[in-house]
This record gives sequence, C-alpha cells and structure tokens, in this order.
Amino acid sequence: MEKRFGQNDPKIADYAEETFNPEDKVLKSIRERSQKANLPPIQVGAMDGLHLEILSRCISAQKAVEIGTLGGYSAVCIARGLKPGGKLYTLEISSKAAEVAKQSVRAAGLEDRVEVILGSALESLKSIEKHGPFDLVFIDADKNNYANYLKWAEKNLRQGGVVLADNTFAWGLIAQENVEDPEDRSAVEGLRKFNREIANNPSFRATILPTGEGLTVGVKI
Ligand code: SAH
Ligand code: DHB
Ligand code: MG
Repeated sequence: MEKRFGQNDPKIADYAEETFNPEDKVLKSIRERSQKANLPPIQVGAMDGLHLEILSRCISAQKAVEIGTLGGYSAVCIARGLKPGGKLYTLEISSKAAEVAKQSVRAAGLEDRVEVILGSALESLKSIEKHGPFDLVFIDADKNNYANYLKWAEKNLRQGGVVLADNTFAWGLIAQENVEDPEDRSAVEGLRKFNREIANNPSFRATILPTGEGLTVGVKI
C-alpha cells in the first residue's frame, strides 16, 4: 500500500525518502493510530504528504480546505504548511475517521489550526463558504465528486489559489482502455472527468505531477 515515486526504480524512492525525511515521529504515530483504528491504509504516501506541506508554504496559504480527512495524516501535513494564524477546514463523512483525525491533530499540537467537520463534503462545503475565499483546496475523497469539488473550488479560491487532487493516476488505471471492475471503472471515469475539466477550464492553469499516485495541481488565474 505504500505509495512512492521514482521512475519504477525503487532505489530512487528510497533515496528520496532517506534524503528528504518526509515522515517524522508525529506522522508515523498518525499512521499507526489509523491502522490500530482499522481505518483503510489509504492516507497519502509520505513524499506526497511532504509535497502538500511544501506547496502550502509556497503560496503562503492561510485558509485551506481538505475534502476527505481519514485519520488526519494529510491534514497535519497541510496544516504544517500554513502561515501562523492559518486555518484548515477538513471534511469527513465517517464519524470514526473524524474521531481518529481529531486525536491526530491534537497529538500534532495543531488543534488551533485544524477544524474537522463531520458530514457529506458537498453539504459541509456550503457551510464553510462564509470563511472564504481560500488559498488551497485539497481533494481526496469520493472520486465521482472530484469534478463537483472542482466547481466549488473555482468559486471559492482566491486568484492564485491552488487546487490539489490525490490519486489522479487512478492507481495506474487512468490511461487503461478497458477497466474491468465496475467500481474501479466508475472511479477512473470520475478522475478522468476531473483531469479533463481542470485542464480545459480557462480559470485554471493545471498540471499533473508524477508522484506515486499522481497529484493534479491547478492554480486559479
Ligand atoms: N486525505 C486523507 C485520506 C483520505 S481517504 C489522508 O491522506 O490522510 C478518503 C476519505 O474520504 C475517507 O476517509 C472517506 O470516508 C472520505 N469520504 C468519502 N466520501 C466522502 C464524502 N462524500 N464526504 C466527505 N468525506 C468523504
Ligand atoms: C482509495 C482512495 C484514496 O484516496 C486513496 O489515496 C487510495 C485508495 C480508495 O478508495 O481505494
Ligand atoms: Mg487519496
């Protein structure tokens, strides 16, 4: 399940992780807490976690939104990249995951910066609009709604704000012609629609970074 990058050479991924040390004790303990709570092991890979923090820092993000919290791993990465006084609203539909995430945020000492919001993301997004405009939106929940989350981001990001989306290589299936499994096929179609729409939307300039899982990055222009 460990998600890494590096031109299919595992040595490059090892090198990157040994050199850049993406996962400290706090993140390691979040991974372990999530596992103990039997959450699915689908948090971002360690290098992608670091990418989230760095990208957040690059744009001096103050107000961020995460769609899909799980155990709080990526939330802590994003929150670490926020300016002092910044705020991350992170949205999660599973009450169990949300509880684990709250513990993770507390363990990371970031409770003043992170608000975990329980509920369906499309509903929760409406309720946080009043706190916008936002600097950063990270999309990592149900793949069939990625395009809907993009619409929300287009309206609620500032100019120069950034959309990030995880898993946009669709576990290697994004360019595969016939996806057999119906569940996979539906997710792949959702991710293709998202990539197509962000690539062709004149409000964004976008790319797909070849990280382990594929990380789409779009800046609002
Ligand atoms: N970003 C997390 C991983 C998220 S996994 C990390 O890297 O640490 C995807 C999460 O999205 C799951 O916890 C799932 O419960 C949540 N999710 C799925 N559909 C959702 C929806 N409609 N609204 C809110 N959360 C949703
Ligand atoms: C799945 C979802 C994710 O966000 C992820 O990073 C990996 C897997 C999934 O639904 O299987
Ligand atoms: Mg993901």
